[in-house]
Amino acid sequence: MSKILIIGSCGQIGIELVLELRKIYGNQNVIASDIKEEYPISIAGGPYYQLDIMNVQKLKAIVKENDIKEIYLLAALLSATAEKKPLFAWNLNIQGLFNVLELAKDKLINKVFWPSSIAVFGSNSPANRTPQHTVMEPSTVYGISKLAGERWCEYYHNKYGVDVRSIRYPGLISYKSAPGGGTTDYAVDIFIQALKSKNYTCYLRKDAKLPMMYMSDAIRATIEIMEAPPSSIKIRSSYNLSGISFDPNEITNAIRREIPEFKIKYEPDFRQQIAESWPNSVDDSCAKTDWKWENKVGLQEIVKKMLKGLSQ
Ligand code: NAD
Ligand code: SER
Repeated sequence: MSKILIIGSCGQIGIELVLELRKIYGNQNVIASDIKEEYPISIAGGPYYQLDIMNVQKLKAIVKENDIKEIYLLAALLSATAEKKPLFAWNLNIQGLFNVLELAKDKLINKVFWPSSIAVFGSNSPANRTPQHTVMEPSTVYGISKLAGERWCEYYHNKYGVDVRSIRYPGLISYKSAPGGGTTDYAVDIFIQALKSKNYTCYLRKDAKLPMMYMSDAIRATIEIMEAPPSSIKIRSSYNLSGISFDPNEITNAIRREIPEFKIKYEPDFRQQIAESWPNSVDDSCAKTDWKWENKVGLQEIVKKMLKGLSQ
C-alpha cells in the first residue's frame, strides 16, 4: 500500500496519531517525522525521519523514496509560543503548509490533513456556539496564520483539485506527551500538579471558559475526516469540531471529586487575553451532518482518564 507521512510526530497530537494510524495501516506504512533528531520511544516501532518542514528538497526526497501518498502536517508554533516569535511563527505555520500543498498540487501526494484551531475566531465572533461561518477577526499571530492557512487550503482545493481536509481543533487534553505552548495547556498541567503537589496556579481566570476535547476523540475525528469519501467533505477550509466546554473553576471541581484536597489559585498572565478572544463553545453541526462526527468523552471521564494515565 502507499504510505502515510506525519510531520511533527513528536508533539502532543503527533505521538498519538502515529500510534493510532500504525494500528490501522501497519507500522511500516506510517512514517513519523519531526525536526527533532531524537524521538520518543513510544513511536520507535516504525520508520522515523528527522525532517524540518522548511526543507522542501528533503521533504520531496522522503515522499518519493517512500511512495508517500498522504501527509498529516502537524508542525506549527502554537498560540502562546507564537506570540513570543510572531514572524517565525507566521513563516513556519504558513510556509510549512505551502510546502505540503505544493506537493499535492504537483500530484506527488493525493491527500493532506492540516489542523486549524478555535484560534481562527476573535472577540467579534459570537462567543457561544460559534457558528461554522461567522465573523472571523483573530487577534493572535497563531489565529491569523490558521485563518490564512484555511483560506489557502480552500484555494488549493478549488483551483488545483487538492484533496485537503481540516478540523478546527479545540484545546486538546492528553497525558502521553506534554502540550507544546498553547493557551489551553493549563487543562493538562492542572492534572500533573494535582497529582504532584495537590496545588495549581492557573494562568487563566477562573471563568475563562474554552472549548476542549479529549485526545482520543480528536484522533478519531482526524482519522474519520481523512477516511470519509471526498464527496462528503463539503467544507475545504476547516470544520468546527466540538467536544466539551469548561472553565478552570469547573475542571477544578471535577478534579476535587477525585482529589478532594486539591487547591487552585489564579494568577492570569498574557494568555488570559488570548483566551478571552476565543469562543466559549463552538457549533459543529456541519461536521456532524457531513461526515457524521460525534464526540464521546465527557468532563468527569476525562478527569478519571487523565489521573489514571498520568499516575501510570
Ligand atoms: P506540538 O507543539 O505539541 O507539536 C508540534 C511538533 O512539531 C513538535 O514535535 C515540534 O518538534 C515539531 N516541529 C516544530 N517545528 C518543526 C519543523 N520546522 N519541522 C518539523 N517539525 C517541527 O503541537 P500539537 O499540539 O501536537 O499540534 C499539532 C497541530 O495541531 C498544530 O498545527 C497545532 O496548531 C494544531 N492544534 C493543536 C491543538 C492542541 O490543543 N494541541 C489545538 C488546535 C490546533
Ligand atoms: N490548544 C491550542 C492553543 O492553545 C489551540 O489551537 O494554542
